[in-house]
Amino acid sequence: LSADQAALVKSSWKQVSHNEADILYAVFKAYPDIQAKFPQFAGKDLESVKDTAAFATHATRIVSFLSEVIALSGEASNLGAINNIVSKLGADHNGRGVTKAQFGEFRTALMAYLQAHVSWGENVAAAWNHALDNTMEIAFKSM
Ligand code: HEM
Repeated sequence: LSADQAALVKSSWKQVSHNEADILYAVFKAYPDIQAKFPQFAGKDLESVKDTAAFATHATRIVSFLSEVIALSGEASNLGAINNIVSKLGADHNGRGVTKAQFGEFRTALMAYLQAHVSWGENVAAAWNHALDNTMEIAFKSM
């Protein structure tokens, strides 16, 4: 990711990175098959779990992971570190039966959330697409 694109991803992420539960809610709402992979949320009504502590905890884990990768992005010297944590994420999720298609669904839901909640434009979309292409490529190698 170029420094310019990383800067666009960072500035737009800052606009939503405190909406942890709201982001996870949007993902589950669009893709119930993702919710169904979580032992603690499977088979439950999304509206009844969205305000629970367990939901907030998991939402924070996902958003914190993204924040960590985004903080590292745009610096060539951080590529090894990004590769390590994203490979591990892919391998861990693969072990839980999460599929590449579901990571693709997550990506679609995240992009829709961003488009609706941050200052959007062609450059911002291109920066996020580039960032997510790179991230998915790394994760998929271990899935
Ligand atoms: C943990 C499912 C995508 C970040 C988990 C857990 C499940 C899960 C079942 C274990 C939860 C627990 O037992 O407490 C899924 C599914 C996904 C998905 C079905 C489908 C797209 C993602 C993505 C990210 C992510 C895209 C990051 C951006 C995490 C983190 C943890 C976790 C940080 C906690 C650490 C760990 O246990 O590995 N996920 N996940 N997940 N997930 Fe996901």
